[in-house]
Amino acid sequence: MAIIARSIGKRLGEPPSDILSGVSMEVRDREFLSITGRSGSGKSTLLYLLSSLDTVSSGAVEIDGQDLGAMSPEELCFFRNRQVGFVFQFHYLLSELSAIENVLMPARKAGEEETRRAYAFNLLEEFGLAGKSDRLPRELSGGELQRLAIARSLIMRPKYLFADEPTGSLDTANGELVVGILRRINQRDGTTVLMVTHDSGFAAAADRQIRLADGRLGEADTSVGASANGRTDRSVAPHDRGGSL
Ligand SMILES: Nc1ncnc2c1ncn2[C@@H]1O[C@H](COP(=O)(O)OP(=O)(O)OP(=O)(O)O)[C@@H](O)[C@H]1O
Ligand SMILES: [Mg+2]
Repeated sequence: MAIIARSIGKRLGEPPSDILSGVSMEVRDREFLSITGRSGSGKSTLLYLLSSLDTVSSGAVEIDGQDLGAMSPEELCFFRNRQVGFVFQFHYLLSELSAIENVLMPARKAGEEETRRAYAFNLLEEFGLAGKSDRLPRELSGGELQRLAIARSLIMRPKYLFADEPTGSLDTANGELVVGILRRINQRDGTTVLMVTHDSGFAAAADRQIRLADGRLGEADTSVGASANGRTDRSVAPHDRGGSL
């Protein structure tokens, strides 16, 4: 079992309110999981908690048997750099750095910029960005930026790839390209992929779908991977908070 969330919750704001509450779920190694739900339902928040980028207010996240809450800041930093790839909803590429420098940024942090340079070029080539390595982000299209952000997330060969609306701003053709890339990484490299999406068609490309409603886990829509294991995510009792939006 790769990632286990035990009744996790997140309280934010003033006055504090429950952005997520009582979310229990499991993600298996090598699984491709999609997370859907309305805007404001807590999808990004959940992804941040599961990926160690943010800390829970209640409950616990365990990755490969390690409780994230028990890890030191140094251990967390190392874990994120080595094991976690994250594609942000608004890609967060550094505007003053070229494409190749952006891809290499996580490697630079790890002191491995030179040893990973050839791989960075491979990734650019694989994602149709060969010949654009010296471009600045503003000189690339939306689809190219999203593929560049994925290349950056993969430079350290992470075990887990978290993608927050990687197709959100793309047309259908580019969206399909990006989902195809995530699927390929999952199948070819065995990377565990968690993808947030608004698009039910893209969500269906995953092995299993989970749905968030109002900060709580809803019913699993389909469960290809899970049914193979005789298991589905349990739906939980509806929680009436009067809506979060
Ligand atoms: N720092 C914060 N302080 C207070 N409320 C927050 C904070 N961050 C997020 N929220 C609220 O938490 C809820 C969930 O936010 P989140 O970004 O996880 O939603 P989402 O499902 O990813 O939405 P979208 O599909 O629009 O990206 C929203 O109602 C949002 O306003
Ligand atoms: Mg979001």
